Amino acid sequence: MVKGLIFDLDGVIVDTAGYHYLAWKKLASEIGIDIDEQFNQSLKGISRVESLDKILRHGNKQNSFTIEEKNMLSERKNEYYLKLLDNISPKDILPGVLDLIKQANQYNIPCVIASASQNAPTILKKLAIKHYFQSIVDPQSLKQGKPDPEIFLKAARLIDVPAQYCVGFEDSMAGIQALKKARIYAIGIIAEGPLHEADREVYSLTEINIHTLIK
Ligand code: G6P
Ligand code: MG
Repeated sequence: MVKGLIFDLDGVIVDTAGYHYLAWKKLASEIGIDIDEQFNQSLKGISRVESLDKILRHGNKQNSFTIEEKNMLSERKNEYYLKLLDNISPKDILPGVLDLIKQANQYNIPCVIASASQNAPTILKKLAIKHYFQSIVDPQSLKQGKPDPEIFLKAARLIDVPAQYCVGFEDSMAGIQALKKARIYAIGIIAEGPLHEADREVYSLTEINIHTLIK
């Protein structure tokens, strides 16, 4: 019986994964590194700082920048990303999301956001759905990012529901692994490739029936 819903944001609620990719690709090319869509898969669910480190290792430039320079690079990536987000609106909410969070609210099943993105509150406001969520985990309050379970355990605590009564929705491998380590039932939203470690794989949240979850 499910008593709480935990949502990742990018790729689950809204299709921003492509914008993250475009922003990183532009930044990477400015420092002479080429990234492709396949490499981008490994950045899903990973924090901004860790993503930059991965990109620098990918281009063999891990020792080429000081911490201050790296901070400036990740800030520049975020500026590119925010520009791309300028035009997002409720029409960009992924299929099935609105129905599910509305129904959860009707049944008093709390919803919480567990995303590595520091932009989550801004994006939820732009989508006009922030009020459906009881809480948003602050990724800056965490010691470890996904695939560590910390973010999901914190999400469960924020809504005061034991992990075993929660369901988590994720589109990244790192996120699915984090959910499994937190012993939370993991539903994988498939975009490019399969998420075999998930307890269940779906193509969109239209496949999720709230009545089946809570009965
Ligand atoms: C999510 C995305 C990642 C992104 C991370 C940090 O986990 O899947 O691609 O790097 O959030 O996002 P931010 O908006 O804080 O740069
Ligand atoms: Mg995601």
